[in-house]
Amino acid sequence: MKNGIQPTNREVLVSERDFIVSKTDTKGRIVYANRLFMKISGYREAELLGKQHNLLRHPDMPRGVFHLLWSKIMQGHECFAYIKNLCKNGDHYWVLANVTPDYDPMDQIIGYFSVRRKPSREAVDYFNGLYQQMLSTETRAGPKNAVTASTELLNQAINDQGFENYETFVFGHQT
Ligand SMILES: Cc1cc2nc3c(=O)[nH]c(=O)nc-3n(C[C@H](O)[C@H](O)[C@H](O)COP(=O)(O)O)c2cc1C
Repeated sequence: MKNGIQPTNREVLVSERDFIVSKTDTKGRIVYANRLFMKISGYREAELLGKQHNLLRHPDMPRGVFHLLWSKIMQGHECFAYIKNLCKNGDHYWVLANVTPDYDPMDQIIGYFSVRRKPSREAVDYFNGLYQQMLSTETRAGPKNAVTASTELLNQAINDQGFENYETFVFGHQT
């Protein structure tokens, strides 16, 4: 494990009232985290600031999801994604994250904002299964072809369920 944290399989539930907020620079290094972010992830502010956001990366998350996220936000679009995050003690929590670019007055991207909210249980159940399939596909495809292979699987799931695009697919499960 990259960060040396052993997942416990214990889920921490996010409540309806929770807004878990962070801000990064253009490279994904954390420059701000709200109190709830610290509380739920188990890190103190000093342990977060300047660190890559992949500090929270759970080994169950497929690379294809983060590839999609970064390609959207670097092009100036927002991105919504269900994410399983790893706490400092190995517990995890599911969120529906919204990540958006932050612009300076010259319209240059100077960083990214993220707000995470409670996902529906239906969405967690569905995306948990889909991400497991994406992860196995990535393992089978090998590092070089992992992202292409799991993105294909994601697009196939969107098509098979009759959704027009990724966004309607995400919100189609958040009921
Ligand atoms: C504003 C912002 C918020 C992010 N939030 C998360 C997050 O909550 N969990 C996560 O695993 N990755 C998050 N990421 C993506 C990470 O930067 C990273 O791409 C991901 O953890 C995969 O790690 P890797 O690129 O080292 O494979 C976020 C990125 C940005 C720009």
